Amino acid sequence: MRSIAPGLAGLSLVLALAAAVPAAFGQAGPDLDRRVQAFLDAHAGQWRDMNVSEADGRILYDLVLKSKFTRALEIGTSTGHSGIWIAWALSKTGGRLITIDIDEGRRREALANFRAAGLDGFIDSRLGDAHELVPALPGPFDFVFCDADKDWYKNYLVAVLPKLVAGGCFTAHNVSPRMRGGRGGGASSFVEYVLSLPNLETTFAEGSWAGISISTKRSEK
Ligand SMILES: C[S@@+](CC[C@H](N)C(=O)[O-])C[C@H]1O[C@@H](n2cnc3c(N)ncnc32)[C@H](O)[C@@H]1O
Repeated sequence: MRSIAPGLAGLSLVLALAAAVPAAFGQAGPDLDRRVQAFLDAHAGQWRDMNVSEADGRILYDLVLKSKFTRALEIGTSTGHSGIWIAWALSKTGGRLITIDIDEGRRREALANFRAAGLDGFIDSRLGDAHELVPALPGPFDFVFCDADKDWYKNYLVAVLPKLVAGGCFTAHNVSPRMRGGRGGGASSFVEYVLSLPNLETTFAEGSWAGISISTKRSEK
């Protein structure tokens, strides 16, 4: 009589692989929600690397979820606070985030944070100068969060706009008038520029102290 042991061994292997695959690539659900929430709770009030506030993180999360965006780009990862909010929403829409930073140390910390939050499977982190990396990305994108060097915001927008789908949205951080003085002065010219583009409908998020502009592309072209 033929032994069934190899069959069972094969089945065990398949089951083990099936369990490992979602863990490797990330899977939305209550377990992930609990893990992300626990991570955010444990780090509340401890983000010190120019990171967005919790309120701003929530705004990004809601934007992605509401419009079911899936192809997201973040310019300016830092240690990953905004990336975690965006990727958490993407875990529910079936999407993925590309995020870029030029600083090796902050990026290393972001990678550890993405792993600890259980969201690393939804994030493609790139190290380098966004001035070069952003124009080289093929896209398309339906959600962009711009939070790096303010005097380059306009250039990022110009580079990304042809790769943004109609209905997609380009958001930029620290655009409140209170953030536009001093080193952040560059955001003023960005705001003037973005408001001048007829193919973008631009509003400003309510409840953001630093200011988030939300520009939705009306049509392809
Ligand atoms: C305001 S912080 C980003 C905060 C992050 N979005 C968060 O909320 O967790 C800006 C980041 O942009 C990065 N940055 C500035 N200029 C850059 C450039 N040319 N290319 C890539 N990253 C850049 C900085 O290294 C810094 O980590």
